[in-house]
Formats: sequence, C-alpha cells, structure tokens
Amino acid sequence: MFNKRALITGITGQDGAYLAKFLVSKGYKVFGAYRRSSTRNFWRLHYLDVKKDIELLPVDMIDQTSIMQAISSCEPDEIYNLAAQSFVGDSFMEPIATGEISGLGVVRILDTIRLLNPKIKLYQASTSEMYGNSTIVPQNEDTPFQPSSPYAAAKLYAHWVVRNYREAYGLFACSGILFNHESPIRGIEFVTKKITDTAARIKLGLSEKLHLGNLEAKRDWGFAGDYVKAMWLMLQQPTPDDFVIATGESHSVQEFCDVAFGELGLQAKDYVVVDQKFVRPRDVAHLQGDSSKAQRMLGWNQKETPFSELVRMMVRADLEKYQHPDRFMKHFLKHI
Ligand code: NAP
Ligand code: GDD
Repeated sequence: MFNKRALITGITGQDGAYLAKFLVSKGYKVFGAYRRSSTRNFWRLHYLDVKKDIELLPVDMIDQTSIMQAISSCEPDEIYNLAAQSFVGDSFMEPIATGEISGLGVVRILDTIRLLNPKIKLYQASTSEMYGNSTIVPQNEDTPFQPSSPYAAAKLYAHWVVRNYREAYGLFACSGILFNHESPIRGIEFVTKKITDTAARIKLGLSEKLHLGNLEAKRDWGFAGDYVKAMWLMLQQPTPDDFVIATGESHSVQEFCDVAFGELGLQAKDYVVVDQKFVRPRDVAHLQGDSSKAQRMLGWNQKETPFSELVRMMVRADLEKYQHPDRFMKHFLKHI
C-alpha cells in the first residue's frame, strides 16, 4: 500500500524527475502532470529510472479544465507545482506566456484545491530570481524582492498569491524560495549545463569554442537532488510557511567555467568567448542565499553536495554522454 498520493506538475523537467524519484522512495503513489507535445519528452524520467513507477496525467497550466480533471481524478494529498516557463532569458521574448504559466498557473491550482478539497497541501516553486538586483547579500525570507525579469515578476505574483490563499482561506500552501540548482539532467539552455556540455565536446574535439554572455554574474548553485528533499520537508511541517533553500556560497559564471574546464585538464580562457547575443536586456548580478531557517526548522542540510562536486558530476555525465552515446540514447529510445 502507498503512504500518500502526490501530484507533480512539470514532471518532465529537471526537478520533476528528481522529486518523483524521491517521493517514490518514500512510498508515495506519484502522479505526473505533463503537457501534450508532438514529441514525447520523458527522457529524464527514464534517465533516473522512475518512469515505470509513476502515472502520467495530461495537464496544461493555462487550461483550468485539465488542472481540475487531473486533481479530481488522482485525489492527491500533496501537490507540487513545478511547472513553469522557467528560462529567464526567454521570458523577455515571451512575457505573456510566462505570466500565464509561471504566474497565473498556480492560481488555477489554488482555486481548484479551495473548491474541491481544501485539505490538499500545495508546494509552490518560488525562486531566488525574485530578489533581482537586491543590494542585500545573502538573501533570506525577509529580504525585499526586486524582480528584474518578466519571469521573476510572474513568480513573485505567484508567491504572493500562495501566501494570500494561505491567509484568506487557511490552505496549507508553502513556497520554497529555491536558489539555482543543477544536475546532469539540467536543461541545455541554462548556463551550467551549456558550460559542461560544451567543455566535454571541446575535450573530445567535437566543438571549438564556448560562447557565453555575462561572465561576472554570481549564483548560489546547489544540486537538484538535495533540493527536492526540502520541498517535501516543507509539506511535512505542522504549519505552512515559506523557506529559502540555498548552499550559502556563490560563484561567478567565470569560476564555473574555470572549474569545469579544469576538471577536463583544459583552461577556460583558451575557449570561452563573450558573445553579446547571450547578454540579457537586464541581468541579475549576485544571488546568494541564507537558508538558516530551513536548516533550523526543516533539518535540511545545505552542505550535502559541495560546488566542486556538483561541477564534476555534470562534467563527467556530459563526457560519458559523448563518449558512449548509445548509453545515453537508450533513455530517448525507450519511449519511442
Ligand atoms: P524545467 O526543467 O524547465 O521544467 C519545467 C517544467 O514545466 C517542464 O516539465 C515543462 O514541460 C513544464 N511546463 C512548462 N510550461 C507548461 C505548461 N504550460 N503546462 C504544463 N507544464 C508546463 O524547470 P526545473 O529546473 O525543473 O524547475 C522546476 C520549477 O522550479 C520551475 O517552476 C522553476 O521556475 C522553479 N525554479 C527552478 C530553479 C532551478 O534552479 N532549477 C530555481 C528556482 C525555482 P515541458 O517539458 O513540456 O516543457
Ligand atoms: N543561460 C545562459 N546562457 N546564461 C548565461 C550565459 C549563457 O550563454 N552567459 C552568461 N549567463 C549568465 C546569465 O546572464 C545569468 O546571469 C547566469 O548566467 C545564470 O543564468 P541561467 O543559468 O540561465 O539561470 P538563471 O539564474 O537566469 O535562472 C535559473 O535560476 C533561477 C533561480 O535563481 C533558472 O533555473 C530559473 O528558473 C530559476 O528561477
């Protein structure tokens, strides 16, 4: 028998796959909400070997009916809302879609919970991006928000609405303010994965240069596998609250390059080229989180995966992917 039932939106994304794996290991019956696309997109679930353990439900975050149908059919105890247009760069080109999915999407879930079963607990994926160019470093739960992108503005709206439904209707709804977290299954458009993937290709003679934008930006990078535990811990507390999840350390994009190329016996300066095409209309300079509240109240461990180990894990996975494409391709071939 299963302990509890959980619905995860954004199941095809990085965090969706890690969270599904984690909840299955905790004895949950896991339902994964995915949006229909012309090409199936479950490779991350195969990569972590969890696809066989979950039940998939079609949901589009801009479609209230699909959200209602999914929630009423799977009757979850907990919902984890991870679905989003999550790429900050693209939010400048698709501000309205970003607002619909990453902002209004959670209101559709909240209202369904309120009307259908107010006992369902909700986790909302808030983000350190909401701090924007705050001059306060490190940032904690009390640091004022200054969103600097359409993505951050949409997420901040979602953040406040979650809080409002908690206060107005007594829902058990929590927001995790997660700082950047990465892994071997991170999307290729994000800077860490772009660096490790290209560095591996350069090492093997498959590529010559790595074109990047702002090398000075600093981020607090952790491992996604550690961060999904915090999402679950938030929903196991006696009362709902919001928590910052971060390692407490920040590094620049340049430093990330140095460690990644160094891992391959190469020097980043020989390959990295700054290309204005990748510089954003407005960028966030320095994110570094203070997760002491989560450590104190959730017992969450911020030191589980150090920065150098994270970079090494990603570089090795990308090297292996290009050295043994057959091993990697099997995750794609499984669902064709
Ligand atoms: P991700 O890999 O980009 O995954 C996003 C997921 O949302 C994908 O499954 C995507 O489906 C789904 N999605 C997008 N639009 C949708 C729509 N209209 N309807 C239904 N599903 C839709 O993101 P992630 O890194 O796993 O992040 C998970 C969540 O945490 C996101 O909300 C993100 O904004 C937030 N967050 C992430 C970080 C981080 O550093 N990773 C930090 C703070 C907060 P497709 O596969 O079909 O595109
Ligand atoms: N993507 C990308 N590509 N970023 C680059 C590049 C490049 O070629 N060159 C420099 N950067 C800089 C960006 O300008 C930014 O300052 C930094 O690298 C990190 O960019 P991303 O990896 O795209 O992540 P992000 O910090 O903008 O957003 C991620 O973290 C947020 C949490 O703070 C995403 O996962 C968001 O969904 C998440 O909310």
